[in-house]
Amino acid sequence: QSFFRPILNAAPPSPTKRHNKISVIGVGNVGMAIAQTILTQDLTDELLLVDVNPDKLRGEMLDLQHAAAFLPRTKIHASDDYAITVGSDLCIVTAGARQIAGESRLNLLQRNVNLFKKIIPPLAHYSPDTVMLIVSNPVDVLTYVAWKLSGFPSNRVIGSGTNLDSSRFRFLIADHLDVNAQDVQACIVGEHGDSSVALWSSISIGGVPVLSFLKNQQIAYEKETLEKIHKEVVDSAYEVIRLKGYTSWAIGYSVASLVRSILRDQRKIHPVSVLAKGFHGIDEGEVFLSLPAQLGRGGVLGITNVHLTQEEAQRLRDSASTIHNLQAQLDL
Ligand code: NAI
Ligand code: 2OP
Repeated sequence: QSFFRPILNAAPPSPTKRHNKISVIGVGNVGMAIAQTILTQDLTDELLLVDVNPDKLRGEMLDLQHAAAFLPRTKIHASDDYAITVGSDLCIVTAGARQIAGESRLNLLQRNVNLFKKIIPPLAHYSPDTVMLIVSNPVDVLTYVAWKLSGFPSNRVIGSGTNLDSSRFRFLIADHLDVNAQDVQACIVGEHGDSSVALWSSISIGGVPVLSFLKNQQIAYEKETLEKIHKEVVDSAYEVIRLKGYTSWAIGYSVASLVRSILRDQRKIHPVSVLAKGFHGIDEGEVFLSLPAQLGRGGVLGITNVHLTQEEAQRLRDSASTIHNLQAQLDL
């Protein structure tokens, strides 16, 4: 018996509102930061959690469910069986080994490829129309691995890429100039992490291009300061890992921003890891690297035709070549 009685002459509710279902694979620091940001930002109707550790999984599910009185209504379920992910609109993969202090992201590769062989095929089986968002590291190579293992079209397999590095960059520039980071437009492309490429000419504040402003005002071009800021971006994760053991909050917000653009069809531009073959002279092989991509309901809608200097394009091709060589050694 239902708690409610229908009013007279009522028609069944019309299914006009779109129902969103998101699955998060891996409920470690990163998966839970993403899950909690998605919940507080009211981005989904259903949230499914999958992990191989049943106690941790059930504990995390209950802990989130117990916040129901303070959150927008969202169904939260968890299981180690991928059947619960059926019909997901978005699958976010965060499962896998993470770096210990001083370890590089690329060092995690073979361990996480082995896990992806168990994770990606069932996800693709239960949600053949989903968009996959890969977060586990090394994110660029693992996005390629997920693309291969899923058999999906490339627009539906995206890596969280340098959306996070770009936020770190914007924060540091904003801090340096004492402005709001949301007023700083600045983009980092390429590999997430060590060989990322900062696009200096893209930096503007409140619509004013910074480099030409400095030049017009005959203020000395602070190349060294800018390069120091980029180095700080590259070192950021290493520092946070050394201090607290892992990174989580910033990637949680970064991924939530991607979720919003995709599921709400915002058509916003984010630097994320996409199939980069054919862009900026990358023609060696099928590599995923971050480029400014327009995101919407279908995943990647297009890539911005951003201008790169010769040096920037060369650095991007060098990263592509390193990643391509690593991929060639993989047993998929
Ligand atoms: P964690 O160790 O806290 O969590 C990993 C989770 O994966 C654990 O709960 C574990 O039980 C689960 N797991 C392991 N094998 C699994 C399988 N076969 N199926 C389902 N779940 C499985 O690690 P943390 O800190 O959450 O990091 C996760 C990954 O995210 C790492 O690879 C890390 O490097 C990466 N990361 C990526 C970022 C990015 O910007 N792309 C930012 C921060 C972390
Ligand atoms: C980060 O940049 C470790 O890739 C991770 O926070």
